[in-house]
Amino acid sequence: METNPLFETLDPEDWEEARELLHRMVDDAVNYLRDVRERPVWQPVPEDIEATFREPVPDGPTDADEVYRQFRDYILPYPMGNIHPRFWAWYMGSGMLSGAVGDFWASIMNPNLGGGNHAANKLEAQVTDWMKQVMGFPSDAGGIIVSGGSMANFVGLAVARNARAGYDIRKEGIHASPKRMTFYASAEVHSSNQKAIELLGHGTESLRKVPVLDDFTIDIGALRTMIGKDRQNGMQPVCVIGTSGTINTGAIDDLNALADLCAEEGLWFHVDGAIGGIAVLSDLARPQLSGIERADSLAIDLHKWMHIPFEAGVTLVRDHQAHKDSFSLIPEYLARISRGLASSEVTWFSEYGLQLTRRFRALKIWMALKEHGTKKFGRMIDRNIEQAHYTGDRIGKEPKLELLAPIGLDIVCFRYNPGGLDDEQLNDINREIKLRLEETGLAAPGYTTLSGRYCIRFAIANHRSTFEDFDLVIDEIISIGDALSGK
Ligand SMILES: Cc1ncc(COP(=O)(O)O)c(C=O)c1O
Repeated sequence: METNPLFETLDPEDWEEARELLHRMVDDAVNYLRDVRERPVWQPVPEDIEATFREPVPDGPTDADEVYRQFRDYILPYPMGNIHPRFWAWYMGSGMLSGAVGDFWASIMNPNLGGGNHAANKLEAQVTDWMKQVMGFPSDAGGIIVSGGSMANFVGLAVARNARAGYDIRKEGIHASPKRMTFYASAEVHSSNQKAIELLGHGTESLRKVPVLDDFTIDIGALRTMIGKDRQNGMQPVCVIGTSGTINTGAIDDLNALADLCAEEGLWFHVDGAIGGIAVLSDLARPQLSGIERADSLAIDLHKWMHIPFEAGVTLVRDHQAHKDSFSLIPEYLARISRGLASSEVTWFSEYGLQLTRRFRALKIWMALKEHGTKKFGRMIDRNIEQAHYTGDRIGKEPKLELLAPIGLDIVCFRYNPGGLDDEQLNDINREIKLRLEETGLAAPGYTTLSGRYCIRFAIANHRSTFEDFDLVIDEIISIGDALSGK
C-alpha cells in the first residue's frame, strides 16, 4: 500500500537524511566526550545566545539540520561542567558513554515501565534485584528505580511512616493520628529528607535534628535522649534516618549503632545512602558502611558515584509487602489478567512508587553494569577516596591551606588561610577563589560553610579526575589566594 503523502506523522520525512544526521550526532558526541579535558570546565552563556532562550514557541517547522546546528551553537559549548575531570562541585556523577546509549535506546523504544509483560519490565526487575544483591538486601525485598536520591528518600520515608503509623493512614489520613509522629536524623541530614517529611504532611518540626559529633556523625547518645523526651511529651517516634555520606563532609553515621537503637525502640530505620550507599562496591569504603544492609529502607543514587547519566536512584525496602501497601492502587483501567500484555504475573512498578508512567531507566544501568562490572565501579570509587586523601595530605603540607573537616569518603573541605586574617576576611577570599576557578574555566570546586567558616569543598565523584588535576588546582588556589591577600 502506498503511503499517503498527506498523512502526517512525527517520523522523519526522509529516513536516509535522518540517518545521516544521526551519524553526525554520534560522531560529535564521541568527540565531545573524548575531548572533554580540552574545554573549560564552565563558561557563562553570552548575552546574544541568552537571547535565543527567550524566543517564543515555534508554530511552524525548522529543518532538523538547523535544529541540531542551534543545539551545537547555543547549548553544547555552555555545559554545567560535571562531566569534566576538574568538576568537584555539589555532589554529581560524571556520566559515561554506555549509560548515555542506554538512555538513547530507552527513548527510541519508549516503553512505559509502569508495568506490563514485556522485556523492559523484566529487565527493570533484574536491575532492582542486582541492587539488592549489591546492598546485601534479601532477594524478596521491595525495590524501585526512581529519579534520584530525593525521590528515593521520599519513597522510603513514605513507607516508613505508613508502616509505623499504627493505623490505616492511607485511608484515614494524618488528621486521624492521635499523636504527632516524629522522625530523627543528624543535623547534617540532606534537605531532601526534610522535603519528604513536609510533603508527607508532618511539618518541618517533626524532623528532629540531632547534634553531631566532631566527625559530623550523629550523636547516638543525644538521639536516644531526644527519642525518650519526645515519648514522654506524647509524641510518636516512627523513624530514624541514618546518613551514609553527608553532603557537607561525607560523614557516615554509625549504621550498626542506629540499627541496634531502632530495634530496641521499635523504630523504622531508613538510610540515606545517596552519596555513600553504592560505595559498598569499594574495598576502601565497605568497612565503614557496615550496617547499611540492616536498614528497613535504603535510598541509593546511581547517578552520583556510579556515574549513570541523570536520572537514576533506587529505593529498597526490606518488607516487600509494606512497600507495596504504601503505593499500590489498581483502578479498573489498570486491572491485570492472567495472560497477555497486562499480565498479573510480572511486577508492576507503579505499585511501588508515585509514578504511573515511568521511563526505562533500568536500561542505562543494565548496559553500564554489563559493560564494566561491579568491580570496576568499586575501583573508580577507591581511586576517588585515594585522591581525597592525597589532596588532604597535600593541604596538610601547605602552610597557607587549612583542612576544615575530617575527610569523609571523597569530600575534602578546606580553605586558603595564610594567617593573620579573621574569618570574615578569609570567607571573602575563599569565596572569590572559588569564583575565579570557575570563571577561568580551570575547575569547579564546591563550597560549604562549617562553623561559620567558608570552605572550598572538593566532592570527588569523578572517574576522569587524575591526581595531577588536584595538584594543578591546589597550586592555583594558593596563587589566587596570595594575589588576593597580598601575602
Ligand atoms: C545525602 C544526600 N541525600 C539525598 C540527595 C538528593 O539526591 P538527588 O539530587 O539525586 O535527588 C543528595 C544530593 O546531593 C545527597 O547528597
